[in-house]
Amino acid sequence: MNPVPSIITLDGPAASGKSSVAQRVADTLGVAFVSSGLLYRLATLVTLQRDVDANDVAAILAELDLHDVRLHADPNGNRLTLDDKDVTDELHTDAVDGAVSIVAAHPELRAWVNARLREIEGSFVIDGRDMGRDVFPNAAHKFFLTARPEVRAARRVGERSADLAAVTEAIRQRDEGDQRQSRPADDATLIDTSDLTLQQVIDRVLDTIHATEGAT
Ligand code: CDP
Ligand code: CDP
Repeated sequence: MNPVPSIITLDGPAASGKSSVAQRVADTLGVAFVSSGLLYRLATLVTLQRDVDANDVAAILAELDLHDVRLHADPNGNRLTLDDKDVTDELHTDAVDGAVSIVAAHPELRAWVNARLREIEGSFVIDGRDMGRDVFPNAAHKFFLTARPEVRAARRVGERSADLAAVTEAIRQRDEGDQRQSRPADDATLIDTSDLTLQQVIDRVLDTIHATEGAT
């Protein structure tokens, strides 16, 4: 059997399917799954809850420094704790969606997130926006998932309170806000998931991994 690759990156825009795919691929390979977006969401939650100015990165980092932030890479879904309180269920709200791109745009805040991600030991599949290009450039396998905006909005609408028009607009705004940090690595495999089922995407990722491993 081929050795298990140490790091696999799966990047892409909102609702491209990266976390669902990353979780299932990690499960199949028997390695951990890590969602980098949760740390950006946590920083945004803290910013909103403590009434910190989202444009003031020094104030955001000072507030984060007051707390013990931990990412638990549970196989069934990552959990985030803030001073031992599980806040995972508070991270996927319209309010956090609306502000996260502003918070995530600060290079200093990105460095704070990336330092936490680079501390993670062992093998894992990680999803995000810039995992393959900036954070883990030496990852064993890199993927970038895309899907047409209307397909992504339709996927997300059931997961949020808003209707299709509002979700479409929220996704458009987040795509725009995330543009700079949302580019594929040059050596990533691009998969347009618009007309694929979740299982077909998972199979394509696993086939690509196995084909590359077999070729080496
Ligand atoms: O699942 P979805 O794509 O909607 O969100 P997410 O992956 O949890 O990411 C939430 C937000 O965090 C994104 O819209 C980006 O603003 C930011 N993010 C980032 O800048 N870089 C990453 N590696 C991951 C997330
Ligand atoms: O992590 P990201 O925001 O990129 O997307 P997700 O939350 O993993 O996926 C959004 C939804 O689209 C989930 O309900 C998936 O089951 C569904 N879906 C998908 O991810 N890929 C497909 N090819 C078809 C559906």
